[in-house]
Amino acid sequence: MLQERIPDLTKYVEPDRVRREVYTDAAIFELEMQRIHERVWIYCGHLSQIPKAGDYYTVQIGRQPMLMVRKSDGGVAVLHNRCPHRGNLLCGDRKGNTGDFFRCSYHAWTFEHDGRLKNIPMMDSGYKGTRLGRDNPDCNVKPAARVEAYRGFVFASLSAEGPSLKEFLGKSIVAFDDMCDRAPDGEVEIVPNCFRVIQHSNWKLFMENQIDALHPSVTHQSTGRAAHEVEKAIAKKAKGGEVPLSYHMLSAFATVTIDKWDNFQTINYPYGHCILTGYMGLRPQDPDTLAYDKIMVQRYGKKRFEEIVGVNIHHVLVYPGLSVQSPLQQLRAVRPLGVDRTLTEIWHFRLKGAPEAIYRRSLAYYNLVNSPATLINADDLENFWKCHQGLASDGGDWVSFHRHHGRDLEKDGAVESAPNMGTSEAPMRNQMKAWAEYMRG
Ligand code: FES
Ligand SMILES: [Fe+2]
Repeated sequence: MLQERIPDLTKYVEPDRVRREVYTDAAIFELEMQRIHERVWIYCGHLSQIPKAGDYYTVQIGRQPMLMVRKSDGGVAVLHNRCPHRGNLLCGDRKGNTGDFFRCSYHAWTFEHDGRLKNIPMMDSGYKGTRLGRDNPDCNVKPAARVEAYRGFVFASLSAEGPSLKEFLGKSIVAFDDMCDRAPDGEVEIVPNCFRVIQHSNWKLFMENQIDALHPSVTHQSTGRAAHEVEKAIAKKAKGGEVPLSYHMLSAFATVTIDKWDNFQTINYPYGHCILTGYMGLRPQDPDTLAYDKIMVQRYGKKRFEEIVGVNIHHVLVYPGLSVQSPLQQLRAVRPLGVDRTLTEIWHFRLKGAPEAIYRRSLAYYNLVNSPATLINADDLENFWKCHQGLASDGGDWVSFHRHHGRDLEKDGAVESAPNMGTSEAPMRNQMKAWAEYMRG
């Protein structure tokens, strides 16, 4: 039916502009779930969320309620959260420990951690002569077609076909390497729990905004300016003494002006992924940082340490559902709920082996910039809602991605924004290019 109504979906996407229906049409949303989110590798969670056998965490992949579970052999399974008997959700809670096996709350069918049927009450008498029996695979909980973890980050794909996780991630894999390499122990641990925000707009608006280097100094200017005023007042009182770093996290939105954002660069990769370079230079010389540096040098040696902390990344976007700020251990996962409703999970991580003060810095950024309590997040949420309202209107047919179009540089299979054009809309063009390829089916 959709195909009759929309003969050629790719006509909705041109290299420099996109039809508004791409954001507002419920039928297109359904097709996106089938052809993108329920096919590609989607982030489920981190292994440290489920340390013990039987620990589980529920997660949404496209339209599918799923659960990630630690198996008795130490491995991880991702299963459809659905009992094969009459369809009951196997786990009604968001997370927990299921014990030695899953037990459905409706009629007590039980399942191993990997989803295989364990037992059905009075199976022999109740199912004798029926086509249901222990050997029937329909009695098992359906697993995700593919599950892979990279440095503790668990992904699942609901399609048996497609690139491996590493092939899919390509260069965007640096998100996880950069985060883990900064830990003296070489790995990170998730901080329970996350913030969950439901925005009243299409999921793509969130993904586009994550690497929109043009908006921060406009959208977040008032927040940045207020923080900068306080920062200056503290500095004056301290007579040139230290101002807490947390003020800088906010004031940067006013002090890093558009021309400075243009000095950064976006590098756009296949499958819609993107890196925004230009890490804002959080390498201060305060005692906390120096203590951390010392531990890192002891672990890795001076040369490797410099390589690790020198990785020049502000943000990595793993299309279609993940935004990672690796130098500050921040991760946001996007779960589309409907054409105009999107859930974001906002997580942060602890660098294993790093001093507590370094963790407090990550927590400060989490609370001040990414949490629903901050004005930064509120600024963005207001734009998302307003964009969706405008796009749902008859005020125009197209969304413009023309900024620096035609000036992007193609290099080694990637598309880079040209020098001093960091605010190029190349990332949006790249995402929509990937979108159109996926949607062709
Ligand atoms: S629905 Fe699960 S045991 Fe009946
Ligand atoms: Fe923003």
